[in-house]
Amino acid sequence: MKAFHLTLRRMACLAAWGTALLLAGCERPPIDLLQTGYRGTGMLQVHNPRTAAQVAAVNQAPALLSGGSPDGPKASQIFKNVQVLGDLSIGQFTSQMAAITAWVAPSEGCNYCHNPDNLAEDSKYTKVVARRMLQMTRRINADWKPHVAATGVTCYTCHRGQPVPALAWTAPVPQDLKANFMGNRNGQNAPASSVGLMALPNDPLSMYLTSDTKIRVAGTTAITGQRHDSIQGTEGTYALMAYMSNSLGVNCTFCHNTQSFGNWQLSPPQRTVAWHGIRMARELNTEYLLPLGKVLPAKRLGPTGDAPKVACATCHQGVNKPLYGVAMAKDFPGLQGPETPASPAIVAAADVKPAKASVKGK
Ligand code: HEC
Ligand code: HEC
Ligand code: HEC
Ligand code: HEC
Repeated sequence: MKAFHLTLRRMACLAAWGTALLLAGCERPPIDLLQTGYRGTGMLQVHNPRTAAQVAAVNQAPALLSGGSPDGPKASQIFKNVQVLGDLSIGQFTSQMAAITAWVAPSEGCNYCHNPDNLAEDSKYTKVVARRMLQMTRRINADWKPHVAATGVTCYTCHRGQPVPALAWTAPVPQDLKANFMGNRNGQNAPASSVGLMALPNDPLSMYLTSDTKIRVAGTTAITGQRHDSIQGTEGTYALMAYMSNSLGVNCTFCHNTQSFGNWQLSPPQRTVAWHGIRMARELNTEYLLPLGKVLPAKRLGPTGDAPKVACATCHQGVNKPLYGVAMAKDFPGLQGPETPASPAIVAAADVKPAKASVKGK
């Protein structure tokens, strides 16, 4: 009996080590495990100073810029063609232009969007896109506070000093079903780094972040003959989860207690923030970015003709809060509501629906 107990204890000990190794995945040392939940719940985060240094390098906030003085006449009184930023003072408007140049097109300058002979003209597609981007940013900061909180986002959160965000995504080329005898692989065995090179569907973003496809594995009712969540749905869900973990540089246990992945009572609050993030990404893609495909030149589109879109990594870039939570938006009234309708150029080109909810508060 005693020997049996000892064996059990040894097995428990081995299991604990096994779990620790499993949670640590294939990380090259040195690694630390940080405990984030109650003892014994396995709520651990793998921390590796080497990889942490790499993500830290891309997540430094740029020099904080001034938002400009609120005094003086309004931009709408002075300029000819301001459809979004008309309420800003002239000082705030000029500072906003300087800031978007620094955040999006620092090497190209004002002329990336403007014809220098006539700043009011909308002849460059980049200006038309930038106006819609202003509206999208305002929408995020005003209405998606359950996700972005008071931290908010600026153009820099996604752009990081480049005209096209490095971590925007387009749908991959579909499998050529004529070219082999493999049958339809459903995107599997075509390892994608976005899903941790696992044999999971390689395009969970098209599956889940451009429509409100159900993200579920466990059935919510006992087996009563109702249709159950399919194996394909399960694989897709795991692919999305792997992508989300990679994007934030966290383990599954950042959002889940593995006793039950589906149970919200057991889940840390970060899972609720992530739930809103999924809905936000869907809205940004369907209401703002996909319609811009009709305004963008062909070279910007993906291999299947879709416009570049956002997902978790576009903003997060490997950390749980983009740029470690530096609040850059608060100094720029041009990046806060109120909502303005899409410009006629965009509506005509892309049949854009105006964003739905109105701005809360104020
Ligand atoms: C990333 C694109 C982009 C860059 C770069 C940019 N602008 Fe703009 N600019 C815009 C957009 C979009 C508007 C229209 C805003 C609106 O409709 O509310 C605008 C409007 C203006 C206007 C108002 C013109 C009028 O009469 O209607 C001025 C002036 C201006 N910008 C100056 C500048 C200056 C100076 C720079 C460089 C420091 C600059 N912009 C850089 C996108 C840009
Ligand atoms: C949530 C992420 C996100 C934010 C925030 C964002 N953008 Fe973008 N932006 C994108 C994506 C994705 C693209 C590529 C797709 C497209 O061009 O429609 C893009 C493209 C652009 C382009 C076209 C560049 C080119 O060369 O084709 C301009 C200009 C631009 N953004 C300006 C801005 C400005 C100005 C802001 C801030 C007011 C801003 N963006 C905020 C995601 C973002
Ligand atoms: C950043 C937070 C976050 C991380 C990290 C995360 N998840 Fe999730 N997970 C969620 C959210 C939010 C949902 C619910 C999605 C929805 O319903 O829209 C979910 C749902 C699930 C479900 C479906 C539960 C059900 O109701 O059937 C499973 C299974 C799951 N996650 C597994 C994982 C695994 C495995 C990992 C690690 C590879 C992981 N998750 C990492 C936030 C996260
Ligand atoms: C438009 C940019 C943007 C996108 C896209 C985005 N996030 Fe976030 N997210 C943020 C910002 C900003 C914060 C910081 C909020 C704060 O300071 O509390 C944040 C915070 C979070 C947090 C809370 C972290 C913590 O430590 O409390 C989670 C979890 C999260 N995001 C998950 C996701 C997931 C999952 C996705 C993709 C489905 C996603 N985010 C997409 C901007 C974004």
